[in-house]
Amino acid sequence: MVALCEPTDVHWCDGSEEEYQLLTQRLVDAGTFIKLNDELRPASFLARSDPSDVARVEDRTYICSRTAQDAGPTNNWMDPAEMKGILGGLFQGSMRGRTMYVIPFSMGPLGSPIAQIGVEISDSAYVAVNMKIMTRMGSAVLDVLGADGAFVPCMHTVGAPLEPGQQDVTWPCNPTVKYIVHFPEERSIWSYGSGYGGNALLGKKCLALRIASTMARDEGWLAEHMLIMGVTEPDGTKTYVAAAFPSACGKTNFAMIEPPESFAAAGWKVTTVGDDIAWIKAAADGTLHAINPEAGYFGVAPGTSMSTNPSAMATIRANTIFTNVALTDDGDVWWEGIDGDVPAHLLDWKGNDWTPSSDQKAAHPNSRFTAPAVQNPVVDPEWDNPAGVKISAFVFGGRRSGTMPLVHQSFNWAHGVYLAATMGSETTAAAFGEQGIVRRDPFAMLPFAGYHMADYFNHWLSFGRSIENPPRIFGVNWFRRDAEGRFVWPGFGENMRVLQWIVARTQGRANGLESPIGWMPRFHDLDWAGLEDFSEADYLHAMSLDRDDWDKEILSHDELFIRLNDRIPREMIAIRDLTLSALWRSPHHWEMNPDPT
Ligand code: OXD
Ligand code: MN
Repeated sequence: MVALCEPTDVHWCDGSEEEYQLLTQRLVDAGTFIKLNDELRPASFLARSDPSDVARVEDRTYICSRTAQDAGPTNNWMDPAEMKGILGGLFQGSMRGRTMYVIPFSMGPLGSPIAQIGVEISDSAYVAVNMKIMTRMGSAVLDVLGADGAFVPCMHTVGAPLEPGQQDVTWPCNPTVKYIVHFPEERSIWSYGSGYGGNALLGKKCLALRIASTMARDEGWLAEHMLIMGVTEPDGTKTYVAAAFPSACGKTNFAMIEPPESFAAAGWKVTTVGDDIAWIKAAADGTLHAINPEAGYFGVAPGTSMSTNPSAMATIRANTIFTNVALTDDGDVWWEGIDGDVPAHLLDWKGNDWTPSSDQKAAHPNSRFTAPAVQNPVVDPEWDNPAGVKISAFVFGGRRSGTMPLVHQSFNWAHGVYLAATMGSETTAAAFGEQGIVRRDPFAMLPFAGYHMADYFNHWLSFGRSIENPPRIFGVNWFRRDAEGRFVWPGFGENMRVLQWIVARTQGRANGLESPIGWMPRFHDLDWAGLEDFSEADYLHAMSLDRDDWDKEILSHDELFIRLNDRIPREMIAIRDLTLSALWRSPHHWEMNPDPT
C-alpha cells in the first residue's frame, strides 16, 4: 500500500495515551483542531470540516458484489473489476506529502467470539484519533490477530496529495471525487475523498454494518443498526432491548433515556450497552446475545441538552472531539438546542462571526461529538462483556407524523419481520399539520445493508426459525402529531412508560389488546404516574388506526415489495394481505374503547 499511495512516512498506531497526545497536538499544529478551554471542556477539541464534507455520502457509496443482483436495487453497484480500476488510479500517489497511519482495531471487546478485527490505512490523523475513541485500537489488536488471523482491510485516503512545498489546508478532502466502496465477497473497504464520519471512520457503517451484514448472512448471525439498552426493574429483574431507528430519530437519546421521576424513585434504571450498532449471535442456550462493536459515541450534537439527554451531556464533558459545532468566546462549544441562553457572539461551524440575529445555524445540523463510552454515567456494567448481553426484545421505530401508533407488538416473528421491513420515516420535518415524505427504511438498514434487501428479509425470517425462544418484536412511533401539527406524545424520558410495557410483555406479564396490526396496550396497561397534560383521549388518538392512512401505507409497502420483487419472501406478501383484510374488517377509524372509569 506504501508503493501504491506513496506517503512521506508511515505511522503504526499503538493506541497509547502518548500517541493520542502526539496526534492531537499534530492536529492542533496543523490548524485542524482547536483546543477548547481546558477548564470548561478538558482535553477536548473542535474540528471544522470543509463545507463540502459534512455527512455520509450515500449516492457515492457502492456495494461492489460480483453481480448487481446480489447488491440489490437499493444499493449503488459497479462491477468490482471496473471499480478496482478506478480506485487503483485514484489511490496511486494519493498520500503524497502525507503520513500513512496504520490503524489496527477491533469491533467488539478484544478477543470476543462475536468481535471482528479490521486494519484501516488512512492519511488522516483526525481519523486515527477518532478511531482511538470509537474502537478498541492499537497494538493489543495485533496481538489478538497474531501472524495468521483474519482482518478486514480498510483503505482510506482524503484524496488530497500535496505537491512538494504545497501548503496544506486545515481539512484536506477531495471536493469533487468521493467513493465509499465495499467488496463484500473479499470483505474489503476502499474509501476515497472524504474525511468525515462514516465515510472515513471505516469501522462503523462500512465494516460493522455493510461488510458485517454480509458476514452475518453467510455465517448465521445478525449485524444491525440498533442501540442496545438494559432495563432494570425495582425488583432487580434486568431485560436487554435492541432498537432500530433510522438516522436522526434520537437513537442516542433513547439509548441513554432518563426515566421519569416516579420511575426513578421506584427503582427503575436504564443503562446503555450501545447507541448505534448491535452484533447478535445465538448462544448455546438458544437465546440471542449481542455486543456493541463500538467503544464510543459519534453522536449528533444539535438538540442534545440537559433536558433531552443529561447522560450524553455528562459523557461529553471532557476528552471529546467535536466536529462542526460552534465555538463560544470563552473557548467552549455551542449548538442549537443546548442549555442556557443563546450567546451574544459565537464563531459558527465555518469559523465565521455569528450572532443571534444571524439567519444561518451556528452549528451544522449534522455536527457531532466523538466521546468514549466509558464516560457515559449510565453505561451498562456488561457493555464490555465479550459474551454480550441477552436480548429479549427488538424495537423498530421511524419518525411518522401520522398512521403509526405509539406502540404495538407484532403477532409473531414473521409478522415482526414485516413490521421492520416496511418501516418508514419522514425525510423532511413535517410542516404544520401536514405529513412529510415517508422514505421506506427497512430495519433502519436502507443505507447499510451490504446485500440485496429482500435477501436480508429472508435472512431474518430463517434466523428467527432457528432460535428456540426468539425475542418479541415491537413497533414504536414517538413522533405522531395532531391535526394542528403538534406532537401528541411528549417523548424523551416519557418513552420509559412504553418501554416498561415492552419489557413486561417479553416476560408475559402485561396485557394487550388485539388490534388489526398487532397487540397494543390499553390505557390502563401503562403507568401514567407523574405525567400531566396527557389525557386518555390523547392516548386513544396516538394509538388509533385510520383506514385512509393505512390504505396509503399498504400501497407504499407494495412499492417497496415491487422494487424488491425478484427476491421478496412470500411471507411478506401473505402478511400484507392479512393486514389489509384485518384493517378492512375493522371500523374505518379504529380506536380502542376508552377504559371504563
Ligand atoms: C449515524 C447514522 O451517524 O446513522 O449513526 O447516520
Ligand atoms: Mn446510525
